[in-house]
Amino acid sequence: MSTPILVAIAWPYSNADIHVGNITGSHLPGDIIARYHRMKGNDVLMVSGTDSHGTPVTLKADALGKPVEEVYQYYHHRFLELFQKLGITYDLFTTTHTRNHFKVSQSIFLALHRNGYLFTQTSPQWYSPSRNRFLPDRYVEGTCYICGYEGARSDQCDRCGNVLEPEKLLNPRSRVGDRQLELRPTEHFYLDLPRMEEQIRAFLEERAAHMRETVLGESLGKIEKEGLKPRPITRDLDWGIPVPLEGWDGKCLYVWFEAVIGYLSAPIEWSQLVSQPRAWYHWWLNPQARQFYFIGKDNIFFHAVLWPAQLMGAGETFMEIFNGEKGLRLTLPYDVPANQFMNLEGQKISGSRNWAVWGLDFLERYDPDPLRYYLTANMPEMHDSDWDWEEFVARNNNELVATWGNLAYRVLSFAARHWEGRVPPISLTDLRPQDRALLDEVEKAFTRVGEELEAVHLRAALQEAMRTAAEVNRYLEQNAPWNAVKTEKEQAALTIYTALRAIDSLKILFAPFLPFSSEALHRMLGYTAPLFGSQYTESVEDDLGRHTVLRYRPVPQTATQWQPSQLPPGQALGKIQPLFRKLDPSIVEEERARLGGGQP
Ligand code: MF3
Ligand code: ZN
Repeated sequence: MSTPILVAIAWPYSNADIHVGNITGSHLPGDIIARYHRMKGNDVLMVSGTDSHGTPVTLKADALGKPVEEVYQYYHHRFLELFQKLGITYDLFTTTHTRNHFKVSQSIFLALHRNGYLFTQTSPQWYSPSRNRFLPDRYVEGTCYICGYEGARSDQCDRCGNVLEPEKLLNPRSRVGDRQLELRPTEHFYLDLPRMEEQIRAFLEERAAHMRETVLGESLGKIEKEGLKPRPITRDLDWGIPVPLEGWDGKCLYVWFEAVIGYLSAPIEWSQLVSQPRAWYHWWLNPQARQFYFIGKDNIFFHAVLWPAQLMGAGETFMEIFNGEKGLRLTLPYDVPANQFMNLEGQKISGSRNWAVWGLDFLERYDPDPLRYYLTANMPEMHDSDWDWEEFVARNNNELVATWGNLAYRVLSFAARHWEGRVPPISLTDLRPQDRALLDEVEKAFTRVGEELEAVHLRAALQEAMRTAAEVNRYLEQNAPWNAVKTEKEQAALTIYTALRAIDSLKILFAPFLPFSSEALHRMLGYTAPLFGSQYTESVEDDLGRHTVLRYRPVPQTATQWQPSQLPPGQALGKIQPLFRKLDPSIVEEERARLGGGQP
């Protein structure tokens, strides 16, 4: 039975390029899980898009003196380019600036409104008299009145994590240069979280057995310590999704409120693109569906509390408003495997100081799989981790190349040389006990790696695959086919066949992590049908304009791919090439010298 799996990945703001911290935090773990479940034969839908509204984006446009639309499109296209080069296989990567997303977001808002989970309240907000406009959220910074942090934003403090009341901010200053600020009253909608507290607590407790401690701790902790407070979900901004009620001109939905709705609107857009308008029901109106949300730790509250609250509060009313169907309730998240942060050479990554390793820039000089390898081996699953260039080179050379790449290359070239470009044409009944023992061991790895992946323990899963590769190296040393080939070629043939078959299995075990090298190895082993599908972009038009989306065309699948190799003896091999390159240690200093300079 195949399970519907929704892989939902945090939507990046279109105000900066994506760096290694963002990649290891959400895009890469999501892709590994999506690739694994596709190979298992499950029904995967992996979605995300550009978070194109809100003050993070408008402030960037102000700083560049460019129209916000142009800035959002610029970063959006850079994201699409990166995901193709890095093999992040979104079934759909879209944007929040689409008519479809507007309609879905407004329907959620109206459902909450109708169900009585919204109320209005007037409160003071910072206002610029010279510009004649309010300055919400990130437009005003100052000192946090709770923890004293000087870089707090008017709505929120990134150091203590508290939501702030703008008027209490100390030493408020405008980010866009206004000398004079004043407070003016303004009316907004609030989500009545206190009324939903018990439902949210129950939602979290039901999932306690499989959710990460870090995620439960923060969400349940907030409920227990201070209780949930109402949150304003509208803003005085004109770039965004209009509040769908009369008399609310000039106000938009709060960017966090609408961006999370992308997890629902993207599957709906995808269904339209594949001309099966109800295809999304499989992941969204189906209690069997499992939804995984890949995010960084700064997004926990929004995904483990706010988003489930929006879904629960909208209830069956969403579908009634959206398309008139009754009695259908949206599926709630299954897991929110949030990651901690990755630092860089011992310091916090900072885009603005160029203290970052940027995805696209990295890929100008190195291949995608070594990046995916290092970021998985070092993924900040439970604790912050650190990108260290020396460690990157060491892990590439001593693990990826030495344990895995060399194993595959050595055995393949040896087979090609001594058996005329073929897998040795042995008879399977001749396999010796040591050969069967190795193949058994490799077979067990499918269960072990699979279990780790199902629990979203990516580091452990990769380690287990690497350990299996090390077993194959040991087997080769013990059976020394390099010597045997001269005197007892049949024995060498058995060893090389067994090793090739183990490598063929390792190709699958590594595939979710290292898709490019697994695909290449798949060809070298003589298979012609591709292991993975392909990514492509498409331009879509609606009344808001054009947007380009990234899509994925999966391979037609007849059987699950996640199973041990049945490598046919005698199969003709493809052209043999090394899987990875050894890196020169001199790059460590070169790369370190790039850090902190002007923006690339
Ligand atoms: N844009 C946000 C960030 O970069 C993440 C938004 S996730 C979403 O932190 F679900 F809200 F879209
Ligand atoms: Zn604070």
